[in-house]
Amino acid sequence: RKPKVTVIGSINMDMVTTTSKVPNQGETILGETFQTAFGGKGANQAVAAARLGADVAMIGRVGDDPFGQLLLNGLEKEGVRIDSVEPVTDESSGVATILLSEGDNRIIVTPGANQHVDSAYIESFRKLIVQSDVVVIQLEIPLQSVDYTVKICSEEGVPVILNPAPAQTLPIETYKRASYLTPNESEYNELFTTVHEELKQKLIVTQGANGVQWFQGDERKRVPGHIASVVDTTGAGDTFNGALAVALARKESLEEAITFANAAAALSVQAFGAQTGMPSNEQVKTFLTNAGGL
Ligand code: RIB
Ligand code: NA
Repeated sequence: RKPKVTVIGSINMDMVTTTSKVPNQGETILGETFQTAFGGKGANQAVAAARLGADVAMIGRVGDDPFGQLLLNGLEKEGVRIDSVEPVTDESSGVATILLSEGDNRIIVTPGANQHVDSAYIESFRKLIVQSDVVVIQLEIPLQSVDYTVKICSEEGVPVILNPAPAQTLPIETYKRASYLTPNESEYNELFTTVHEELKQKLIVTQGANGVQWFQGDERKRVPGHIASVVDTTGAGDTFNGALAVALARKESLEEAITFANAAAALSVQAFGAQTGMPSNEQVKTFLTNAGGL
């Protein structure tokens, strides 16, 4: 059977403007291109996992605006289960305003309907959560909902990947209950540099082109980054998390899972938008074979 991954989190419409430079306060400049793209950390992770062959359910919410329907269609087309994505009346869908300059990005997220992914909503899908091989969650929904979900998972013995993005501080109990914590380098520096041993063992720190670092006992482990021709790094972290979930759900070792996710993320940056470049399982395997990685 396919590994079951449940992603709980945000669904956004990304409004992407490409520009050679970004404006200063009070300044107006002319951009180069504009496109909308499907995004939101939760939806991105769900799509990444679905492309890689998992049976994926998304728990999230969209608005009752035109974006909401487009976002639902987008997820459905990727084969993500959307029975647990309920539109919110009189609310806008989540929107991310993204300035893309030289392959790198600056993002403002307006949560809209994502704010309605509250604890009661999550509780209503407890059965789905409990039946998952792996659960993934990030921080573009109310933080209490994140605490609540991680608690359910730890009580029910379901592995949960907590991707602390965008960086916000959670209660220490939540970190302790999570199975894995996957900050990028700046989130790590903001949230985890002073954490003690127990948490260190759960940390998987993504470092973009420099690969991934984690701890195994006292040993510091690392897989190197891949050389990629970067078009758009938006969603690279989400691809990593979605892929990590799939590999762990397939019961791969942590090192194998990280190697796989690192390769998937490298492939994802070679196309525009968060989701376009997300690879299939086949593509990752071929890439790793050619890179001599597995
Ligand atoms: O991680 C990338 C995502 O962050 C974008 O798709 C955007 O929607 C923001 O949520
Ligand atoms: Na991309």
